[in-house]
Amino acid sequence: INEGKQKVQDAIAGRKSAMEEAALNEQLASETVDVTLPGRGELPGGLHPVNRMRRRIEDFFLRLGFDISEGPEVEDDFHNFEALNIPGHHPARAMHDTFYFPDHDSDGHRMLLRTHTSPVQIRSMVEVASKDAGGAPIRIIAPGRVYRSDSDATHTPMFHQVEGLAIDKNLSMANLKWVLEEFFTAYFGTSVKTRFRASHFPFTEPSAEVDIQCSFSGGTVKVGEGDDWLEVLGSGMVHPKVLQAAGVDPNEYQGFAFGMGIDR
Ligand code: DAH
Repeated sequence: INEGKQKVQDAIAGRKSAMEEAALNEQLASETVDVTLPGRGELPGGLHPVNRMRRRIEDFFLRLGFDISEGPEVEDDFHNFEALNIPGHHPARAMHDTFYFPDHDSDGHRMLLRTHTSPVQIRSMVEVASKDAGGAPIRIIAPGRVYRSDSDATHTPMFHQVEGLAIDKNLSMANLKWVLEEFFTAYFGTSVKTRFRASHFPFTEPSAEVDIQCSFSGGTVKVGEGDDWLEVLGSGMVHPKVLQAAGVDPNEYQGFAFGMGIDR
């Protein structure tokens, strides 16, 4: 009886595994993937307008021989204010509604979120000055995020600036003007009338705010026509005190700086 039972069990097991194998082969045959078929494609994402503008600005200045330098967004009050000739009691400090951190760094400096990209000027001058006794030449732009405790319909607590700095032996306002005018022409694709308006910044002397020609009619802004002006940046010749604070000899070197907002 047991021999008979064994034969029956073997027959069932043999048949079962043959059926399972057949089912698996059928499944493999129906589910093959042809890896040589073309893909269905992916929907490309888009760059944020701020990043698109930032890249265009970077491209222009790279072509002109400027390097790109990015400082930290968490700064100390030496780089953000003091070295830029904005001492503690200076009214410009109050104008920058600063986000301060509760702690100080190991040198006793107050830590903060940078209120502008100008501290990158100090960082790049210090870097070059420590390598080379004089501290020149420098040609950089510093794009990045800046923070102010300020928010309403036209202000956000975080926005973007691009700083520019050039240091050499014989730079003047004329070089600044040329660089900026070439930039506007490249950026707007048409030659744009500019107005250099005398102004004041603690870190530049003389200082100028730069306006570009535009029209505001019909609710749209058109650059390069009309008889209105749009302020686009601050600029000037780097103040000797700023050069000194960064270890650059003001008797030998001078330079220009500018700072513009991307978001606007
Ligand atoms: N740092 C200034 C600001 O926030 C802008 C600025 C003005 C930068 C004049 C400069 C400059 O480099 O020369 O708002």
